[in-house]
Amino acid sequence: MGLTWKQRVFTALLGTAAVSGLTALLLILVGTINVLLPPDTKFGIVFDAGSSHTSLFVYQWPANKENDTGMVSQALACQAEGSGISSYASNPARVGESLQGCLEEALALIPKAKHHETPMFLGATAGMRLLSRKNRSQVEDVFAAVRQALGQSPVDFRGAELLTGQDEGAFGWITINYVLGLLVKYSFSGEWIRPLEETLVGALDMGGASTQITFVPGGPILDKTTQATFRLYGADHTVYTHSYLCFGRDQALSRLLAELVQAFSSFYYTFHFLNLTSKPSLSEANATVWQFCRRPWKLVEESAPADQDPWLRDYCASGLYFLTLLVEGYGFSEETWGGIEFRQQAGGTDIGWTLGYMLNLTNLIPAEVPAQRRAQSFGVWTAGVVFLVLTLAATLGAVGVQLFWIQD
Ligand SMILES: *[C@@H]1O[C@H](CO)[C@@H](O)[C@H](O)[C@H]1NC(C)=O
Ligand SMILES: *[C@@H]1O[C@H](CO)[C@@H](O)[C@H](O)[C@H]1NC(C)=O
Ligand SMILES: *[C@@H]1O[C@H](CO)[C@@H](O)[C@H](O)[C@H]1NC(C)=O
Ligand SMILES: *[C@@H]1O[C@H](CO)[C@@H](O)[C@H](O)[C@H]1NC(C)=O
Repeated sequence: MGLTWKQRVFTALLGTAAVSGLTALLLILVGTINVLLPPDTKFGIVFDAGSSHTSLFVYQWPANKENDTGMVSQALACQAEGSGISSYASNPARVGESLQGCLEEALALIPKAKHHETPMFLGATAGMRLLSRKNRSQVEDVFAAVRQALGQSPVDFRGAELLTGQDEGAFGWITINYVLGLLVKYSFSGEWIRPLEETLVGALDMGGASTQITFVPGGPILDKTTQATFRLYGADHTVYTHSYLCFGRDQALSRLLAELVQAFSSFYYTFHFLNLTSKPSLSEANATVWQFCRRPWKLVEESAPADQDPWLRDYCASGLYFLTLLVEGYGFSEETWGGIEFRQQAGGTDIGWTLGYMLNLTNLIPAEVPAQRRAQSFGVWTAGVVFLVLTLAATLGAVGVQLFWIQD
């Protein structure tokens, strides 16, 4: 004789409860790594209209991480043709043309369906700041031509503006600290934590026509015009930021050489050329620059890369200029120098003000720490709930069978 009906039903209900309970558990575990739906990607475009040239950057981030953190990465960097937009002061109609090539590259990268929801910004820096001192109406004309050209693109063009030196410094500071993951971190215990304020890094930026320095000072800031305050991830940050117009590389060289050289950016290129990017000591850096400057030009030319570096003749002057700026200007000494690192990129992203600017304008850095959010998709969550209910029902059924089924 086999099992009675009561025993069979009881076993079946218990089996159902066990299987669906296990399924619910699996869904909860698997669901949190979100293997079911690849996240939708969002894009943003920023034009960096510098003094010597304009660059375009495309950033991307998963849509479901909007207002979260640590997720924005650089998808494209493009150098626009021609020189900076301020050089079109006497011929503003042509400025749009110079931006077209990069814009087309960006539009080809971003799926068509997303064009209308992709924000685009243009920020102009020192070159236009200088022009605005000379002739404000020319600045307005250039911006009008830029707006006219970019406004016709299929993306969500949000405007073109002149950044102050302080903005440029502050956004550069946000960029580098964001990219290095120093503003907020996702801990192993699954919480957003703020790393210590002491780990934040300062930013020194050498542009074509201005130079910025931005850092969290040890004491109070006396001159309030050099102070920038913002709230990121629930923490208030007060940074000292100062921008020196006309102390950019080109400006300094043009004073030295009485001619404007086409520029490329930053400390980085010069120090890269001189092989000084791997944390040299001050005396090493100084010795290398001086050694380079003392070499006969014939020898320099012979040993330079074959593809004829057009800036070869400037490395000595700019190297000496950077050393002087850092040592005499900012007061770095052998002891403090060790902390300086010359970088163009961090984590695959170019370091400059553009990323910080976009993060701010798109609210991608919330003022408060992100709330804990489950990474489960709605479908997985629903299925999990259904299986949990089924488990409960089967268990109750099994109990009912034991209690109320009169043996036949
Ligand atoms: C992100 O924040 C903005 C404003 O702070 C809000 O309008 C938007 O709905 C938020 N997005 C998400 C996905 O929470
Ligand atoms: C500024 O530029 C405009 C347009 O090029 C020109 O008409 C005007 O005379 C200039 N003003 C000054 C003060 O140079
Ligand atoms: C750099 O080297 C030059 C020449 O050797 C020397 O005169 C100068 O004092 C050095 N500067 C620093 C900051 O070490
Ligand atoms: C970021 O943008 C807001 C406006 O959305 C502005 O008030 C704030 O000053 C900006 N932050 C910085 C660092 O400039």
